[in-house]
Order: sequence, then structure tokens, then C-alpha cells
Amino acid sequence: MIFRDAAFQQCINPNCQQQFGVEQVLTACTECGSLLDVKYDWNAAGTPTDWSYYQGKWARRADRLNFSGIWRFHELLPFALPEHVVTVGEGQTLLQQADFVSEFVGLDSGNLFLQYEGMNPSGSFKDNGMSAAFTHAHSIGAKRAACASTGNTSASLAMYCAVSQLMKAVIFIGSGKISYGKLSQALEYGALTVQITGDFDDAMQRVQEVSKELGIYLVNSINPFRLEGQKSIMFRVLEGLGWEVPDWIVVPGGNLGNSSSFGKAFMELKELGLIDRVPRLAIINAAGADTLHELYENRGVSWNDGNIDRSVLQNYYDELDAANKKASTIASAIEINRPVNFDKCLRALDFCDGVVRTATDQQMLDAKAKVGSGGIGCEPASAASVAGAKMLREQGVIAPSDRVVCILTGHQLKDPTATVAYHTTDQDKFNEVLGVRGVSRASYANRAVAVPNSLDEIIRVINLYG
Ligand code: F0G
Repeated sequence: MIFRDAAFQQCINPNCQQQFGVEQVLTACTECGSLLDVKYDWNAAGTPTDWSYYQGKWARRADRLNFSGIWRFHELLPFALPEHVVTVGEGQTLLQQADFVSEFVGLDSGNLFLQYEGMNPSGSFKDNGMSAAFTHAHSIGAKRAACASTGNTSASLAMYCAVSQLMKAVIFIGSGKISYGKLSQALEYGALTVQITGDFDDAMQRVQEVSKELGIYLVNSINPFRLEGQKSIMFRVLEGLGWEVPDWIVVPGGNLGNSSSFGKAFMELKELGLIDRVPRLAIINAAGADTLHELYENRGVSWNDGNIDRSVLQNYYDELDAANKKASTIASAIEINRPVNFDKCLRALDFCDGVVRTATDQQMLDAKAKVGSGGIGCEPASAASVAGAKMLREQGVIAPSDRVVCILTGHQLKDPTATVAYHTTDQDKFNEVLGVRGVSRASYANRAVAVPNSLDEIIRVINLYG
């Protein structure tokens, strides 16, 4: 097996397609400024095109690469030598058939699956991408790595730095909302945490400038190697379905790394003959951070063979600036107005016949409570996938007989404030306590019952409610 020699970077702009070596650290094409893909000569890499090969690796999981949910698919992302791979056993995630959510969404029983990425070591899907980017950083000898983050990327980067002791983490966060679960991870794992005045979009811009200036390795999803790791979420979904392709993948959209990488995964699997059809992709923005939805669904911006209408994009951003409109949602993870992977995401929507919808804070919190009542809890942004599936079902876009996979991107404990507030706050105080607008009810609240400290009273209450 030849790893690395078979891999190269390539500009995604079909009119450019400039190529670069994998040893180069780039976040954009030096010719035209477009995003980059990691590409492979599959024949040279000797990539097996039979799922049984990958399945067989689990039996040999004493090997650290086979144990990882990413690297047991190494031949599908063959850019790194095995000795450079940095893994902490990420990707041991779960595809759960969730009938209680099926009913909520309006699907036939047995048709709704939750891909629970909260099971990753740092509690979110980010570990998939971080292990890959970190591996690339290690392979080129980086000593410091940086990211801007709404919290999960930073938690993941801080974890890989701390566990491996290979690099120092520098993280940029905005002064707005970052949930305490996530911030606590970055602080505890020893990352240099730089909190700038501004929001995530501001931090994202700054971290690019600073990384360039100081030669720090950037691990945001603008880094093409990050997205290689995130492809494995789809490999594991297929694995969980016995290598059958579902009808829909539904995923929250923020910086649009996941959706971009899922699209790339399906393009490559189709090319390799590992799948014979492609699922449809549904990307769900928060209503308060809806750039993709607005541009794709309302203003007609599309991939258009790489000829994206930039004037519409620019007008939209100018409008945001003129109105000083900032992203705002309880789902702080996806509180992003200027997604860096916008172009790649359009390509994924094109390839996967995709749709984009928005979910309100109310819809996300209700969907989150419903998911949580089944015991696999998620954070508010993750629930956008379930809220979006419900909406698409109601609109008749998804049929009751469709097989639907919703990606739960982050663990419930990432944002306990939102959860506790939902279950305990009086209706008229929601917005104040949650720091949002527009949440008016907690349809699935599980309220604590106040009882005097008396045996009789406690027993009475348990008999009443239990
Ligand atoms: N869900 C969660 C829990 C996230 O943390 C993020 C992104 C997303 C969804 C959106 O994913 O960017 O691939 O569209 N969080 C980033 C961060 C921005 O900094 O942790 P995307």
C-alpha cells in the first residue's frame, strides 16, 4: 500500500484545478484563491473497493489504526504514513435506530437513525476532522496549531494537543456565546485561549491572519485535511446500515465542513464503485444564522459547475454589514454568518440533490428534548438535524417510507445551561434566561417536583407521578 505518494491537493475550481503536494500547508489555491481538496490516485494508493476489506479490520483492532473509526478506513483517505497518524481512538460512534424520534419526525417505524457523534473523546464530531488535520500537521513537523471556534473545534484541538503532547494549541473564541462545557475543556486541557471582542465570524478572520503571520498550523475546516477525517462519519453510517445507502442524510450547517466532506465522501465512494447510488443531503441552518439557506434556497446561488455567482454572495454580505446583522441563535455552535466552506457545500448540494432549511430556536430545543428523552442527548445545534427532518417530512419532501439518518454532532453535556433552562424555566422567562428571542414554550419539559423533606410527602409524590 502506498500512502501519501498517491495523494495531492487540488483547487476545487474546475476552471483552475491547480495541484499542490500534500506536504504543503495551504488553505486556499495560490493561483485563484479557491478552496482546496485532498485528491488521490486510487490505483496508486491500492485502495480496496470491497467493503468487506474495511469490515475485516475490526477483528484486528489491537492495531491502533484499526481501532480508530477514522483510520480503519485509512485507504479512503490515504494522505498520511501510518507512523504519522495521531489517534486517540476517536470515531467509536453509534448509529441508533430511534423509533421514538421516528414518530416525532413522522416517519414509518424503523426508518429514523441517529448518528451519535457525541460519543467521540472530546464529545463532538470534530475529533474526526481533528485527528486527520493533526496527523497532517504532525507529518509536516508543526509545533503550534490554531483555530477559531464556537467551542467544539477548540475542545477537540486542545484535547489532541494535550493527549499527544506534540503541539501547543492556540484557540480564538468570540466574546459572545460559548457554552461552558466546551470552554471548560479548552481551559482544562491547557490551550492558550484568546478571547477577542467580536463573534465567531470575526475570530475566524483573525485566526487566518495570525496563523499566516506567525506560521501556526490552522486546523479550521478551511483546512482540506480536516474534511478528509470527517468523511469517515459517512463511512460509519454506511457500516451501521450494513453498507446500504440511506435515502437522506440530515446535518446541521454552520461553517459547512460536515456537509462539504459528506458530499466529497459520496463522490469518491461512487467513483470507487463502493456505492451505486447517492443519498440526498439536507442541511439545516439555525434561523438566526441562515446564510446558506438564504443564498441557496431564496437567491438561487448554486454550484453551477464551479461558476458560482459571486455578485449575489457579495451583495448579501454587504447587506449584512450595512444592517450590522450578526448571527444569533441558542445553537451557539452554528452561530455563523460567513461559512468558510460555502463553495464546497454548494458542490455537495449539487452532487447529492440537496435541500437547505432553517430551524428556529424553539424547534431545535423541542427536537433536542425529544431526542434526549430517548437517552442519547445532544446539544442544541445537533437537534437542528431532527427539527429539519420533521419539517421536510411535513413539507412532503421526505416520504414516510424514506430511510433518514440525522447526524447528532455534539454531546448533550456540552451545553447544560440550555438544557436545564428548557426543563426548569417558567414560560415567560425563557428568553431572558436563555439569552434569546422567540422561545415561548417547552413542549417536552421534564420539570423537577418540589417536595417537603417528609417521607409521607415524598412517597405520595412518587406514587402520583412515578
Ligand atoms: N454541530 C456542532 C455541535 C458544532 O460544533 C458545529 C460547528 C456544527 C454542528 C456545524 O458544523 O461547521 O461542519 O457546518 N462547530 C464549529 C466549532 C464551528 O468551532 O466548534 P459545520
